[in-house]
Amino acid sequence: MSDLISFSNICKTFGVRHNKVEVLKNLNFTVPKGSFTILFGPSGSGKSTILNTILGLEPPTSGTVSINGTNLYSLTSDQRAKFRTHAVGMVTQDNYWVNSLSVGDNVALPLYLSGWKRSKARKVAQKSVERVHLERYMNSHPNVLSGGEQQRISVARATVKDPEILIADEPTGNLDTKNGEEVMQLLLQQTHEGRATVIMVTHNPEFLQYANNILHIKDGVVRQENKFEAIQ
Ligand SMILES: Nc1ncnc2c1ncn2[C@@H]1O[C@H](COP(=O)(O)OP(=O)(O)O)[C@@H](O)[C@H]1O
Ligand SMILES: [Mg+2]
Repeated sequence: MSDLISFSNICKTFGVRHNKVEVLKNLNFTVPKGSFTILFGPSGSGKSTILNTILGLEPPTSGTVSINGTNLYSLTSDQRAKFRTHAVGMVTQDNYWVNSLSVGDNVALPLYLSGWKRSKARKVAQKSVERVHLERYMNSHPNVLSGGEQQRISVARATVKDPEILIADEPTGNLDTKNGEEVMQLLLQQTHEGRATVIMVTHNPEFLQYANNILHIKDGVVRQENKFEAIQ
């Protein structure tokens, strides 16, 4: 099975001179194409630093990040920005909406920004919202939705451009168990339908059972538990 992402000997140090902090310590791991990968570890262990490195926003101090076999940091920052725009969708713990726009237009916004015509963008946004079963809210304002519903719309927005990689940084952090489970299932559905490779950050051990690739991170060191090839 091919690897979508691979980290080889990645080190990351922040700060200068006497204030250096070594945050990532010689990481070697892979994210197989089509996997549901969980990045699991305590606060401050380096999870967001890893995500930013994958997003092309944080050049490692040393080592190589490959995406589909391309050395990510051999690209220019413009090329890396294109990669982010076209290949990556992002769900975060908190939602940022344009409150003057409807749910449908918020979901369509990434398409409008790519120059799509409104009618075509609305149709694609409608499909994305249908996949999270909230089409009844297409013309409502996002802030009338519950926290769980907003997070489901956030999944619809993150996937509207059909990204190859879906990154979810603590997507259930603000949700109760039932809503958290629902969002988890929606993310899982993305991999089951072959729509995206999902990388989810969580510190909830309940979710580990759903992953087929687990990156346990502690003190800047990763231990990979890859069950993905075994079930292919
Ligand atoms: N830009 C930065 N400058 C200095 N230290 C940083 C920077 N970004 C992160 N860190 C430090 O790196 C460590 C890991 O941070 P982070 O990746 O955000 O952890 P997590 O997402 O697992 O909570 C923390 O000690 C944090 O303070
Ligand atoms: Mg973080």
